[in-house]
Amino acid sequence: MDGNGRWAARRNRPRAIGHRAGARAVNLCIDFCLERGISALTLFAFSSENWGRPEEEVGALMKLFMGALEREVDELHRRGVQVRFIGERAPFGEAIAKRMLAAEALTSGNTRMTLSIAASYGGRQDIAQAARALALEVAEGRMRPEEIDEAAVGARVALADLPPPDLFIRTGGDLRISNFLLWQLAYTELWFTDRLWPELDADLLQQAIDDFASRERRFGLTSAQRSGEAPAIVDKAPGPDIMSG
Ligand code: FPP
Repeated sequence: MDGNGRWAARRNRPRAIGHRAGARAVNLCIDFCLERGISALTLFAFSSENWGRPEEEVGALMKLFMGALEREVDELHRRGVQVRFIGERAPFGEAIAKRMLAAEALTSGNTRMTLSIAASYGGRQDIAQAARALALEVAEGRMRPEEIDEAAVGARVALADLPPPDLFIRTGGDLRISNFLLWQLAYTELWFTDRLWPELDADLLQQAIDDFASRERRFGLTSAQRSGEAPAIVDKAPGPDIMSG
């Protein structure tokens, strides 16, 4: 969700106003996904590196998160959304961390859509914590080193119980992943736009989805193999649900 700061700067307003406009775009994005039957939406709200921003901006963002947690969670629950947070909780302090936990507990049984908010999240940190968990299991004799494979790592990173993301959307014109779901994005289709996050609308999201729908996802195989015209000799499936689509 990039471009809040620039959106505000273009209007000669403080960055916090851009983040507030960004929060409105978050609601629009959630509405869009619910209407289209999208089953999982993950939003990169705050990276582990964002703590280094000016104190005033971090403070404004924390206020925005707290406000959103207070205002939006009941409505999300009513609409059947399961809310989760990925990333480190402790740096947010007790009040926000408690609200996060309460939101997850309230919505844990919902199945219409999983909304994951990445907050104080970093993809490298995610992979490192999976490595640490595996090391601990080996040290405690619950696992042998030779049992560590892609599935073992994949089961210990964030969102392990969800299918890998189909589509990654980045607003704001930069063409990079910036430490988002590094492990999970291995076969995800990437889509970039110059439009700033607060400028998001349904047409833009639809453009991203139409583009996604026109792409051929081969997951390392040939076109003929993917279309079933040629057999696939699959030992280890690199992508999700490799033979069915
Ligand atoms: C990146 O834009 C955006 C952020 C670091 C914050 C994202 C937060 C929101 C959209 C608000 C609320 C979210 C929730 C889940 C309630 P930037 O500030 O880096 O923009 P710039 O590149 O133009 O400076």
